[in-house]
Amino acid sequence: MDKIVINGKRRLSGEISVQGAKNSVLPILVATLLVNGVSVIHNCPCLSDVDATVKILEYLGCTVKREGHTVIIDSSDVNRFDVPDNLMREMRSSIVFLGGILGRMGKAELSAPGGCEIGLRPIDLHLTAMEQFGATIDSSGGAVLCNASEGLHGAHINLSFPSVGATENIILAAVLAEGTTTITNAAREPEICDLADFLNRCGAKIHGAGDGTVTVEGVKKLHGTEHTVIPDRIVASTYMIAAAMTGGRLCLKDVIPSHIGPVFSPLREAGCDITVSGRWICLEAPRRLRRIKMIRTMPYPGFPTDVQAQIMALTTVAEGTSVIVENIFESRFKHIGEFLRFGAKISAEGRMAVVEGVKELHPAFVKATDLRGGIAMVLEGLCAEGETTVSDIYHIDRGYEEPENVFSFLGADVKRMTDNERKEVKPEEIILS
Ligand code: EPZ
Repeated sequence: MDKIVINGKRRLSGEISVQGAKNSVLPILVATLLVNGVSVIHNCPCLSDVDATVKILEYLGCTVKREGHTVIIDSSDVNRFDVPDNLMREMRSSIVFLGGILGRMGKAELSAPGGCEIGLRPIDLHLTAMEQFGATIDSSGGAVLCNASEGLHGAHINLSFPSVGATENIILAAVLAEGTTTITNAAREPEICDLADFLNRCGAKIHGAGDGTVTVEGVKKLHGTEHTVIPDRIVASTYMIAAAMTGGRLCLKDVIPSHIGPVFSPLREAGCDITVSGRWICLEAPRRLRRIKMIRTMPYPGFPTDVQAQIMALTTVAEGTSVIVENIFESRFKHIGEFLRFGAKISAEGRMAVVEGVKELHPAFVKATDLRGGIAMVLEGLCAEGETTVSDIYHIDRGYEEPENVFSFLGADVKRMTDNERKEVKPEEIILS
């Protein structure tokens, strides 16, 4: 299994662009099922979650071609409505296939996606919405069988929580349904807007994406189109935090600053100077980061839960005590145990973590616990004098395209080691932590 090896305490500086948004491209790839033809998606990041999505599309009958960061999908010959368990398990967010397959085939059979490292990930909001479209749900046998033999009809759907995935599934099921669908308390994330932009370019009639109320007028068919995926705001935030933690200076080019806005105020409170101009963001770190009094993760446009582990890493080396409350997922603090191996001082109770910043971290051997926790451990390693090893980096490869190359480009000493490149560990290098 690959590892990332970091020799820390190097200042990051430079300018980079940012990969396409994982949480945008996944539902957009599913949406190509609804287009009975060819879709061309540009700025598609090379990630294992994208590979898993493509595998499912091909299983369903699509032909998919990749040319660098462009993916060409022909969904003319879709002839299956089921996703086998082994493919469902490869990616947590495969539940978003439900709306796409149901909208195209009139029925869908998925194995229950199950929980993951950050929580139980229930799908009740998804299933209740599909029933409101007129589908029958049978989840008795572990798999979820959705059937809409009479077709799907528009509905008024109020979400008890602004679930991103449920909002996406509802939009996917609504675009070809008979009549109009209204979603209230919809998720407002930029990835929802990107999905709606793609579908409207294909001839759908979606209004209000990005607001709390979204209206979809069902149409008879969609046609193929070309679309460029928005830059990844979570990856952008991650690299900004890496620069902040290493006393560096980073400029991001060709991003959408408003998507990253929720992260600016905590970084400014920590002493970072952030300037925005057009599609550029520049961050200058202070000599010593200051504590961030309180961070609460919230649905967009609140502070993103997907940046919680990374901002916690920043607070471990900030002067003073910071408090972090994780309001979105019930067990998204698994990275704390690994942070303690670096000498971080963190106590956690339920959804609240209290971080007392330390002057110095020491290097450590750690294991990535999940996607965002894993990259946050790399950030810790960037700040620790000496050699840090992060293993189980398959978690990180789900959402970050060659992070070792990005960090190295910015001046860090970061390498990916495959198993057969395992280094000889000298006895004096073994840190008994
Ligand atoms: C999406 O997950 C993202 N994944 C997550 O990013 C992100 O953390 C999350 O939205 C919140 O922003 C993708 O887009 C692929 P939710 P999703 O439905 O759709 C509860 C990453 O690191 N809920 O908004 O699964 C749920 O338990 C990943 O890139 C129900 O109770 O998130 C959670 O507490 C991690 N019932 C809350 O809502 C449901 O039917 C938010 O979940 C659905 C959700």
